[in-house]
Amino acid sequence: MKLLVTGGAGFIGSNFLHRIVPRHPDLQFLALDALTYAGNLENISALDTLPHYDFVRCDLSDAEQTRAVFHEFRPDVVLHLAAESHVDRSIQDPGPCLQSNVLGTFQVLEACRALHAQGHPIRLVHVSTDEVFGSLEPEAPGATESSPYKPRNPYAASKAAADHLARAWMHTYGLPVIVTHCSNNYGPRQFPEKLIPFMLLRAMGVETLPLYGDGLNRRDWLYVDDHCDGLWAAITHGQPGSTYLFSAEDERPNLEVVHQLCQTLEQLCGYPPGVLQARITFIPDRPGHDKRYALHSHPTRQALHWSPSTPFAQGLKQTVQWYLDHPQWLDHVESGAYRHWVSTHYPTPHSLLPPRVGGGS
Ligand code: NAD
Ligand code: DAU
Repeated sequence: MKLLVTGGAGFIGSNFLHRIVPRHPDLQFLALDALTYAGNLENISALDTLPHYDFVRCDLSDAEQTRAVFHEFRPDVVLHLAAESHVDRSIQDPGPCLQSNVLGTFQVLEACRALHAQGHPIRLVHVSTDEVFGSLEPEAPGATESSPYKPRNPYAASKAAADHLARAWMHTYGLPVIVTHCSNNYGPRQFPEKLIPFMLLRAMGVETLPLYGDGLNRRDWLYVDDHCDGLWAAITHGQPGSTYLFSAEDERPNLEVVHQLCQTLEQLCGYPPGVLQARITFIPDRPGHDKRYALHSHPTRQALHWSPSTPFAQGLKQTVQWYLDHPQWLDHVESGAYRHWVSTHYPTPHSLLPPRVGGGS
């Protein structure tokens, strides 16, 4: 099997590659990424020496680049993770979200369709989010595979649009498509704009910990390795045409998450109890801030023989320890040095096929 992973240098993509590639030397993996601010080659450089793995820089919203990569690699399965993934950025400037999430997905679908039309047995696993189902009332049951779409911010709307495109390509062109939805992920290598690494970095420094609104918005946190195992189950055992929902079914308010994060850091660093929690502040709310997301993941657990195995306290401890153990990664991300290095070392390609890096070359 040849597996193409889009967004491979991002948070979930890189964790997926670290977890799956070394276990499957019989398969061929190609990680693809545009290396936006969120894509970091340091996330996947440890895989460079593996002979069954390679990396290609490609902007999926560019039809020519995308077609060329698909034509040359001829994947059997595409795990489509690439996206602009941050809600706050999408509110500040929705353009990149539409470009990558809608147009990028369109180009992925077109490239898949071209190979499918040639009789190549290609399958697409399209990764979506719980946000497309909108904000739930406090006591409402979790969203299901058939819940109506109610996206309420530019990021969620762009992901919803991409999901509709993916399903339309399945119905119209017969492209085998699986759609997955997941709740909030956390773990190593997450760009420090998202709640947990953002608060962690500020707590490691001397800054305040700013929660939006009253801090009582609820999210369901799934450790990234558990999500990656679910994606692997969808790739290996999923039925085309199906929708799978991955979540921990263990919701908590943001304030509780940050409290627990502070406690974990205090314990691991030997700080006096409560010293970090005292830095929590409340700031004006995110515009259109969704109060609660939740997914009913039991049908997926049964269908894919999948279930999350990392309790929140354990996942949080592992996450904090990873950031404590990787000060250089943090330095590079914070200083933007890795971005400068990438832009000078891997200039935007003029040829059809983007230059390759990785695989020892
Ligand atoms: P991320 O922002 O960490 O990584 C996204 C990657 O996509 C980056 O490496 C970026 O460079 C790349 N990318 C962006 N635009 C691109 C383009 N036009 N062409 C090629 N590459 C491009 O995001 P993540 O948290 O790893 O999320 C991955 C996927 O999972 C996204 O589709 C997101 O919507 C979905 N998702 C994320 C979460 C979460 O909590 N992180 C939860 C549910 C679903
Ligand atoms: O639910 C799945 C989604 O989870 C994914 O599809 C998105 O890609 C991912 O970014 C995430 O979206 P959220 O908006 O839920 O995640 P974020 O980490 O930005 O925020 C989590 C919660 O914390 C949310 O209620 C907003 C709040 N928050 C966040 C930040 C960055 C704060 O209160 N203060 C902050 O500074």
